[in-house]
Amino acid sequence: MPPRFIVGNWKMHKSISEAESLVNGILKHYQPHPSVELAVAPSFVSLQAVSRLIASTPIGLAAQNVNAHDEGAFTGEISPLMLQEVGCHHVIVGHSERRHIFGETDSLINEKLHAVLRHGMLPILCVGEHLNERQANQTHKVIHTQLQKGLEGLSSYDLLRVAIAYEPVWAIGTGHAATVEQAAEVHAGIRTFLAMQWKIDAERIRILYGGSVSGDNAGTLFHSPQINGALVGKACLNSESFVKIIELAKTS
Ligand code: PGA
Repeated sequence: MPPRFIVGNWKMHKSISEAESLVNGILKHYQPHPSVELAVAPSFVSLQAVSRLIASTPIGLAAQNVNAHDEGAFTGEISPLMLQEVGCHHVIVGHSERRHIFGETDSLINEKLHAVLRHGMLPILCVGEHLNERQANQTHKVIHTQLQKGLEGLSSYDLLRVAIAYEPVWAIGTGHAATVEQAAEVHAGIRTFLAMQWKIDAERIRILYGGSVSGDNAGTLFHSPQINGALVGKACLNSESFVKIIELAKTS
């Protein structure tokens, strides 16, 4: 089994000094283990400070977003070259807040994904359905469309470099995580879909669950072999709760 992958998405939280304190808190309590891979995704302005602090540790650096172009007249945007230079290994692409607050489309997300891969970084592609879509039994359809369009043009080699994060929109920031059965069922559907479309061994794809993951529910979620890690929002803003999730992800 590949190591479980735990990613902390700090969103628009933490000043630079707060970011440094959070990393120091994680480093103080976290015991590296081969069964867990860890990454943190601070805001753009904290990337450099965090990069320095984690340089000689097993913690990876992730960005929360990227522009698909290498450079140009795109005021306010950050290019993949800049992320690479600051030390990012991973880039979160297509987070539900990017899709729904900032209007990112599947085709834009696809461009970003290609840009990340082109520059040697690894994308974490987020997918997930709204509550009304789940209630209308549209979950698999919605997610298949997001995968089909978001991953368009990827070779099977590149697909194996992508981590998928299943984040039901109704579970993000609500305190109501999906049950392990709900998440495992969607993860299995994602694997079947990718195996059929790309002719790959989909067991090799890491599928993370995200949406109100906490120290209270992570242990149950990780019981499912379908759940290869977590994309954590609120609970990663505090080093103790984040380290608790990391500890629960360790397998003996
Ligand atoms: P949450 O956020 O853990 O606060 O629900 C998860 C995410 O948005 O990635």
